[in-house]
Amino acid sequence: MLELDSVTAGYGKAQILNGISLTVPEGKIIALLGGNGTGKSTTLKVAAGLLQPTGGEVRFAGERLDGVKASKVIERGLCLVPQGKEVFAAMSVEENLVMGAYHRRSDKAGIRADLEARYAQFPALRDLRSRAAGYLSGGERQMLSIARALMGRPRLLMLDEPSAALAPKVVEQIAQIVLDLNDSGLTVLLVEQNVAMAMAVAEHLYIMRDGRIAFDRPITAEDEGTDDLKAFYLGQDYG
Ligand SMILES: Nc1ncnc2c1ncn2[C@@H]1O[C@H](COP(=O)(O)OP(=O)(O)O)[C@@H](O)[C@H]1O
Ligand SMILES: [Mg+2]
Repeated sequence: MLELDSVTAGYGKAQILNGISLTVPEGKIIALLGGNGTGKSTTLKVAAGLLQPTGGEVRFAGERLDGVKASKVIERGLCLVPQGKEVFAAMSVEENLVMGAYHRRSDKAGIRADLEARYAQFPALRDLRSRAAGYLSGGERQMLSIARALMGRPRLLMLDEPSAALAPKVVEQIAQIVLDLNDSGLTVLLVEQNVAMAMAVAEHLYIMRDGRIAFDRPITAEDEGTDDLKAFYLGQDYG
């Protein structure tokens, strides 16, 4: 559904992505792992249209995506939940959610229905709907950030380190949400530093190093000893 083919990209003269090729098939959860600064977020930014590649191709649902503006990428059904649980701090939870549907802001009835669906899925957000988002806990902000992206009605959701800096119980909730979303038909590209969490939900993993895919492989039932895996696959320089 989403394909990156030999994608290069960077900031100014600094090339960060040195030819990334990866595939996210429709209906799957794919994990992209790797240490800090290896280019995971940059890869997602390119797919989301926030950063234009300098080479290679990005395709989504059979169409070229490189050169397409971020706002148009969302309209095509590809949404990014950025790193850092960023929300509009001064706006209420509900206003944040409505912002996620900005590209179809004239569809008032549809937005109302989607708000109800999000509140049904994230009951805590319903209780907090009038609260300024800046007052939410880290876990609540992550839920809001995911729910806001869902307001864009994505077919593929990209999550950038959703479990970072959250308590284990909240990480479990996020993992369950990702699985539930996938069950309801959403395709997911998950960037994580939490190897165990990624292995628990994804069925295929890509490991990035120095702006390249070091390798990729399916995740199998034997992959439960994730500590070993972390050491083996991510190596000494992990993190
Ligand atoms: N906006 C930016 N301007 C310049 N350099 C950046 C910017 N964002 C990230 N970088 C650099 O690009 C490299 C990869 O960053 P990033 O994709 O965020 O890595 P990761 O998400 O894997 O931690 C890092 O060396 C980082 O310093
Ligand atoms: Mg990152």
